[in-house]
Amino acid sequence: NPTTASRNEVKLNDDRVFDCYSTPVLSPNGDCYGRIWSFRDITQRKQTEARLRKQAEREQLLGEMNQRIRQTLNLEEVLNTTVEEVRQFLACDRAIIYRFNPDLTGTMVVESVSKEWKSILKEQIQDNCFHKTKAPYFRKGGIRVVEDIYNAGLHQCYVEMLEGFQVRANLMVPILQKDQLWGLLIAHHCRQPRKWSTSSVKLLRQLSVQLSVAIQQAALFEQLAAELRERSAAEAALRKSEATLIQQRTKLEAALYQLQQTQLQLIQTEKMSSLGQLVAGVAHEINNPVTFIHGNISHAEHYAHDLLQLVQLYNQHYPQPVEEISKFAKDIDFHFLVKDFPKLLKSMDMGADRIRQIVHSLKNFSRLDQAERKAVDIHEGIENTLMILQHRLKPAAANIKLVKNYGHLPPVECYAGQLNQVFMNILNNAIDALEEYDRELSADKPKRDRSTITISTEIVNYCSTESFSRDVAQNFQSVIIRIADNGPGIPEELRQRIFDHFFTTKPVGKGTGLGLAISYQIVVEKHGGNIQCLSEQGKGTEFVVEIPL
Ligand SMILES: Nc1ncnc2c1ncn2[C@@H]1O[C@H](COP(=O)(O)OP(=O)(O)O)[C@@H](O)[C@H]1O
Ligand SMILES: [Mg+2]
Repeated sequence: NPTTASRNEVKLNDDRVFDCYSTPVLSPNGDCYGRIWSFRDITQRKQTEARLRKQAEREQLLGEMNQRIRQTLNLEEVLNTTVEEVRQFLACDRAIIYRFNPDLTGTMVVESVSKEWKSILKEQIQDNCFHKTKAPYFRKGGIRVVEDIYNAGLHQCYVEMLEGFQVRANLMVPILQKDQLWGLLIAHHCRQPRKWSTSSVKLLRQLSVQLSVAIQQAALFEQLAAELRERSAAEAALRKSEATLIQQRTKLEAALYQLQQTQLQLIQTEKMSSLGQLVAGVAHEINNPVTFIHGNISHAEHYAHDLLQLVQLYNQHYPQPVEEISKFAKDIDFHFLVKDFPKLLKSMDMGADRIRQIVHSLKNFSRLDQAERKAVDIHEGIENTLMILQHRLKPAAANIKLVKNYGHLPPVECYAGQLNQVFMNILNNAIDALEEYDRELSADKPKRDRSTITISTEIVNYCSTESFSRDVAQNFQSVIIRIADNGPGIPEELRQRIFDHFFTTKPVGKGTGLGLAISYQIVVEKHGGNIQCLSEQGKGTEFVVEIPL
């Protein structure tokens, strides 16, 4: 429009820019008869503007990269974004990161390349001339700007390598870790030579510094993570070895327990068999002469009777004996002898009978013949045991009253010899306790109930007894043998340990601490039964042995 003013920018071939302003020149009557053009060279301003814009962009990019590096510990992601951004920002054909190995060979680790050009990712560079000479230079922070590989005075081998990568111009800045050369950040221009602007160089340099930070950060993180992994691995190993230790300890404990049991059993078997053999042997040896004596006593009685009768007859028919006879008769107190002799023989007979009974009990008690389970009369076992303990129960010794409340028991399948051993252990303990209690009390409290041991037996049905809490079939029966004393009782804290091996409160030489441990084993393990201790301090103790039928 010729009547309006206009303004525009004109760009010349030599890159100069002009601000071009034109206004119409009007005659006083309003006719336009010309235009005035004014041109102003604004190249510098335009360049400054562009530079500022570019700088702003660059700063924004750097800021973004910085942000990214702070936010991510994923180095790969950072490197990838960097080459992407570099290529976009510099509008170059390829951006890559080259990483050095310790021996200064290296690999292209990250790449961004435009479609028209080939990828050189993973490309390894062995060529000595590439880095050997350049490395110290790069290590000092030097950069390399090549505008055109053909007239940059490059080594021929280097030019060939770059040709292989289709490179025409390149820009390389070092990525440093402390003062070590980690790698290079490289921009390639492939389509033509390129005059790299200072701002491009500056940008690349700043990015390489940021990359250094990112790499260091990632390395630190990796180190931390590795330490953490190592530590948790160590912890896991520790936990594992702890677990194995505990396992081993449990195994050892079990083995030890097993060993103790076996040892006990050995002791028990050994003791029982040698004692049994001794007893059986002695009983057998005594048995013969005693039978002999016992058998002959009746003959002796007979003979004595006959002899006395003969003397009587002499007396009748020769009432006046010669002096010597009547003197002798007087000397030997013949009248007393006649009365006493049969009595004496009678008591000898009784004695021999008693010996026979004891021998019988001993044989029964040791029961060598019964190594296997057999149905026996429990009461007979108890009686035999009491017989052997006679000497400890009699008035002369402990003066212990014995109370028996035997129920009706069927024959009980058991290892009779071993069960007798149990009764023996419990009864011995009761006698020990009563004797000791008497000794203790006789000083200050001479009057107390007479020492008593009560033995009771009965049959119980499981369903009707609550005291034995075992889940067994309803109509299951057991024999219960209770052996109670009115001794001192056992304090609660000791009661928990009395079945332990070698637990004893008795002086050395008296107690072995094995009696109840062995009894427990015999009753619980051999017979599938139960043994319990009920006790009230000052009142007494009761052992309850249960043998399932
Ligand atoms: N009837 C009882 N009265 C009091 N204490 C008892 C009685 N029976 C067992 N004890 C206690 O149990 C302990 C262990 O008994 P035991 O295993 O037979 O070993 P030992 O008789 O060799 O000591 C005894 O030392 C004793 O303290
Ligand atoms: Mg004992």
